[in-house]
Amino acid sequence: MRALARLAVTTLMVAAPVAAVTVATTANAAGDPAPITVLTSDFEDGTSQGWTGRSAETIASSTAVAHGGTRSLAISGRTAAWQGPSHDVLGTFEKGTAYTISAWVRMESGSDSARLSVERRTGEVAAYDQVVGNTAVISGGWTNLTGRYTLATDVDFLRIYVETASTTGSFYLDDVTASYVPSLPIQTDIPAVKDVVPEFPVGAAITGAEIIGDHGSLLKRHFTSVTPGNALKWDATEPTENTFSYAQADPLIAFAETNGLAIRGHTLVWHNQTPSWVFTGADGQPMTATAEDKELLLARLENHIRNVAGHYGSDIGVWDVVNEVIDENQADGLRRSTWYTVAGLDYIRTAFRVAREVLPDAKLFINDYNTNVPAKRDKLYNLVAQLRAEGVPIDGVGHQMHINVSWPSIAETEAMIEKFAPLGVEQQVTEMDVSIYTNSSETFPAPPADRLLQQAYVYRDMFALFREHASEITSVTLWGLADDNTWLDTFPVTRKDAPLLFDTRLQAKPAYWGVADPSKIGTSPSPSVSSSPSSSPSSSPSAGSSTCAVTYRVTGSWPGGFQGDVKVANTGTAAISGWKLAWRFAGGQQVAQLWNGSVAQSGADVTVTNASWNGAIAPGGTASFGFLGSATGGNPAPAAFALNGTNCAVL
Ligand code: XIL
Repeated sequence: MRALARLAVTTLMVAAPVAAVTVATTANAAGDPAPITVLTSDFEDGTSQGWTGRSAETIASSTAVAHGGTRSLAISGRTAAWQGPSHDVLGTFEKGTAYTISAWVRMESGSDSARLSVERRTGEVAAYDQVVGNTAVISGGWTNLTGRYTLATDVDFLRIYVETASTTGSFYLDDVTASYVPSLPIQTDIPAVKDVVPEFPVGAAITGAEIIGDHGSLLKRHFTSVTPGNALKWDATEPTENTFSYAQADPLIAFAETNGLAIRGHTLVWHNQTPSWVFTGADGQPMTATAEDKELLLARLENHIRNVAGHYGSDIGVWDVVNEVIDENQADGLRRSTWYTVAGLDYIRTAFRVAREVLPDAKLFINDYNTNVPAKRDKLYNLVAQLRAEGVPIDGVGHQMHINVSWPSIAETEAMIEKFAPLGVEQQVTEMDVSIYTNSSETFPAPPADRLLQQAYVYRDMFALFREHASEITSVTLWGLADDNTWLDTFPVTRKDAPLLFDTRLQAKPAYWGVADPSKIGTSPSPSVSSSPSSSPSSSPSAGSSTCAVTYRVTGSWPGGFQGDVKVANTGTAAISGWKLAWRFAGGQQVAQLWNGSVAQSGADVTVTNASWNGAIAPGGTASFGFLGSATGGNPAPAAFALNGTNCAVL
């Protein structure tokens, strides 16, 4: 099935957030606690509640229209589209915390598009991070703008603001909130991915905020390589001609160096995220296939590579020199990007030649998506074979591997690796993620457990394949650290995806266990059966005398099945070392798979025994496990639980 094969992004330039993480959706993992609200503006008290204009426009509480209650904030007298209401969040937003910002906007008359952003300043340097992009706004009703924002740098000025795209029309703002879900500490009692996969570096793509706090700790703990996800692209490094900026990339590179992580440089030449000036001729017109334009384009390319690759020198050991140059639908297999239409194959030759001159020791890669698809794979193979025969210094082929839970097959992926092996190139998996969606029309409010399990099997099988082929595969990088920040939240459509090893709260998913310890996700209904239940709880536990408390939650359900999450708390004063939790399913439910513990079920009686790493529960501490179950008809929660034979309070 190829339904979710990467769609070509045809825009020339995609704006990348600057040193901040923004995604357009707000969904959190099922079972998350209630968000904590740090800003609420409803304007019901008749004041502007701290909102001021960005310039000399008029800001006032109004009763003309209201999203909730009877008042909103009216913004009028604007003389430029960037003017609009703004509110201080310095001291409110903490670095490294992901805030969900929601605002309602309505035009006074006519229509426009509105967007929500954050302006931050450090010293004299200002930056503007878009949180919600242009969204149609009308006068006949309210439009919601919701997005997420994580501050990644130290600032001395921080304000959120709303502006419009084109007109200076008056508009209204109402019911603004900013909130966050409290983070969980990362798990330190589970194996590090880098330790369970010793054959090659395992990496993650990162953006600014992912080197901070718990994200930084998770990154260091599990990974041995990083790829700046946007910070080294042309729009970030050379936004205007011959003016180079490393403000986004330098902190990421410094973090990698401090922590001994390898760095994949991504990417020197691409058709996306490349400013339009690159393709504008000396006459101010879009470049065409003239000798003059070709010369100028290749000169710009050479200058760019000399500067960017030269800036980091040997600190970056691997570069994706060119990205996504193949189009299997062309007879010659070459994407008709402006690079190609102006310069032909010479842009690729020039890029590798210059990169080699600047970096004699770096590994130089050609990187692409859908390289498992035979038609594309073969065109890429032919190009690499041809260029290497010419002496173009291509050291490696990068397989992006943006895949999904049902595509591609292991056999096709293995054929991909085997295809390139005779070329004598290195191969790296450069951008792996496994979407929970199998086509562009699916959307789930929270990841269904069966998809998460399917995903775990994909990770298990793909990593097993890569490890078997460790003589060809020299690195595997995931395109993101955890599900709270993935590009798939907005590609190919906007919906919450969950394609990585850690969930939105940085906790290990079944996918993680697929890589770290596949025995935890099993393939049979009872993966690791221990002895039969030691004791079944009585149906009326006495909470008063208990030394344990159990929280049992169904976090997702679908016809015939459900996912459960169980937390066991030690409410006594003695440490627990090793535990068995027993309960009875009254509705005929069966546990199919269980993680972070092992399960035995006999009829209605279920016993879960701790895993090796969560057997000790200090007084006041907890242990958790999750499972998938089948349920036909009702799915009543167990009425009672016994821990090591003693009844627990049920919360
Ligand atoms: C993506 C980034 O992750 C996004 O933040 C950005 O908006 C678009 O680009 N193939 C690539 C990567 O080679 O550079 C892309 O990264 C994902 C697809």
